[in-house]
Amino acid sequence: MLKKRLSVFLTLALILLASFSTAFAAEKPVVKILATGGTIAGSASTATQMTGYTAGAIGIQILIDAVPAMKEYADVSGEQIVKISSNNMTTEVWLKLAKRCNELLADPNVNGIVITHGTDTMEETAYFLNLVVKSNKPVILVGAMRPATAISADGPVNLLNAVRLAASPEAAGKGVMVVMNDQISGARDVTKTNTSNVATFKSPELGYMGYFTGGKPYFYHESLRKHTVASEFDVSNLTELPRVDIVYAHVNDDRVMVDAAVAAGAKGIISAGSGMGSIHEMTEKGLVDAQKQGVVIVRSSRVGNGLVVAGIQRYTDQKFLNGDNLNPQKARILLQLALTKTTNLEEIQRMFAEY
Ligand code: SIN
Repeated sequence: MLKKRLSVFLTLALILLASFSTAFAAEKPVVKILATGGTIAGSASTATQMTGYTAGAIGIQILIDAVPAMKEYADVSGEQIVKISSNNMTTEVWLKLAKRCNELLADPNVNGIVITHGTDTMEETAYFLNLVVKSNKPVILVGAMRPATAISADGPVNLLNAVRLAASPEAAGKGVMVVMNDQISGARDVTKTNTSNVATFKSPELGYMGYFTGGKPYFYHESLRKHTVASEFDVSNLTELPRVDIVYAHVNDDRVMVDAAVAAGAKGIISAGSGMGSIHEMTEKGLVDAQKQGVVIVRSSRVGNGLVVAGIQRYTDQKFLNGDNLNPQKARILLQLALTKTTNLEEIQRMFAEY
């Protein structure tokens, strides 16, 4: 009799323990990792090889298994979207990522998303998603400067921080972010500034949004520009984006690249001008002709800091738009999205002031 009671008691205790641990596990935020490749998933033949390795070689489950500490912060699972070096990133992958983010974030059980990505074009994917994700929940891009096989690889701690951030309630409503080297950057302002250093991501002049210290995110700044739920751009029914090319200024410039862009079907051209968006007179003639054919011209700058605003009267007369302080590669993304909605120049200029 005593034995029977004891076994009933033990069974009940086990059931209670099991349901308690299930409830406890369910309380952890759910974070989905969408993997695209890059150096964070890079594989080299030796631990000291930091260049010439294969980016994107390692699958997401191996990356997750390599950082078991993530499970303390979130219920983590991964999906392999593509396995590429980010210099090969395409609009097709962007649209796939945007649609998958919107699907996942609409699920009330999902708290946030981490996207593993090569660092070369991470700022572009981050800004694109910042403009088209329709959720306040965190979307965090993360990469690494050293391959996963390297001595002192930076990927594991970056990934851990990205999951911590995606799981943090403080990260909600701040737009898409990039986490690298314990630094948290906003998608609009961040850019890669060094070809090999782990401290490569910076927001020149405008600064980091925050930092990780002791495993916790601390926030200080936020962009005032529109993003995510406040954005008017919607890619849910799109299968491509309008072609926009970047024409980079240099001494002895001419109109060859402009004419090539028009011939290739460009609907917009970003002039990565010198100084405050100044343009060689030969290139300018090409741009004026391009505009006569309906191509929208936006002046940006190759300088990397500061704004391009109206000021040179002839550019205003020519109705060349001003790219604000977006670098050329980000001005290109905004113009592509703008052209999905309108070709009205005043409207597009408004968008450059708002996003
Ligand atoms: C890439 O962008 O895919 C390669 C470089 C990197 O991830 O750091």
